[in-house]
Amino acid sequence: MARILDGKQIASELKENIALEIAKLKEQSIVPGLAVVLVGEDPASKVYVGHKEKACQALGIHSEVIRLAETITTQELLVQIKQLNQRSDIHGILVQLPLPQQLDEQRIIESVSPDKDVDGFHPINVGLLSLGRKTFVPCTPRGIMEMLKFSAIDVAGKHAVIIGRSNIVGKPLAALLLAQNATVTVCHSHTVNLAQVTKEADILIAAVGKGRFVTENMVKQGAIIIDVGINREGKKLVGDVDFDEVEQVASAITPVPGGVGPLTIMMLMANTIEAAKRRALCNKAK
Ligand code: GUN
Repeated sequence: MARILDGKQIASELKENIALEIAKLKEQSIVPGLAVVLVGEDPASKVYVGHKEKACQALGIHSEVIRLAETITTQELLVQIKQLNQRSDIHGILVQLPLPQQLDEQRIIESVSPDKDVDGFHPINVGLLSLGRKTFVPCTPRGIMEMLKFSAIDVAGKHAVIIGRSNIVGKPLAALLLAQNATVTVCHSHTVNLAQVTKEADILIAAVGKGRFVTENMVKQGAIIIDVGINREGKKLVGDVDFDEVEQVASAITPVPGGVGPLTIMMLMANTIEAAKRRALCNKAK
């Protein structure tokens, strides 16, 4: 039976440190502020944004959700983001993805000030991350690295196999694992003999977006399994990994829900605080 990597527990321990950081900022009369832009009615996005709002409230971070109509144009959305860029009480801006089809997603991501880009999606921040420089790290990959660190799993020299090459998870996670000296393979929908590759993994990260995609025959005995997926199966949420099967062969595994998800949210809080600190430093230098 595998060790369960309890994201909820780890997130609640990290929360204590984050609360201390917020208290320190408040002593300097700084209240970190996060704006979340939600376009349209995507049910999953609504749920995720709700979790972000709740986490801010619990920690005393000022949060605003800007709810916009599904039919908004790119120009109209750019105006909204420009206003948020200019506000001194908003330190972090997150545009919830995916956006409706008519919108120019890349242009919108690039319109967020890199200093307020708590998602780490702006090309400047993506570039800094790929160079191994200090920057905003996308929340899910940062959460996974925190989970590994907290669980005393050293990635140096290990073979980490990521299934999924998204800009949100796969690519930034590959950069972070490389920076910590893992050997990294990124698989995707064109990968030939996927199971043969995943069976080589000491650490296997599933970020595919397909329920129970990773089965026992794809996993090496004793591997560490990180499941990023959240898929609806009737009323139940399941990960990208067939937990019941894979738990039998893995040495450690994240559950869904209660694995990576709670850490993603905590990392958004951490990035927002980071943004508030950066601003404070800039103001001092003026
Ligand atoms: N949609 C799914 N994950 C994310 C995320 O980390 N950030 C944003 N902005 N949208 C998402």
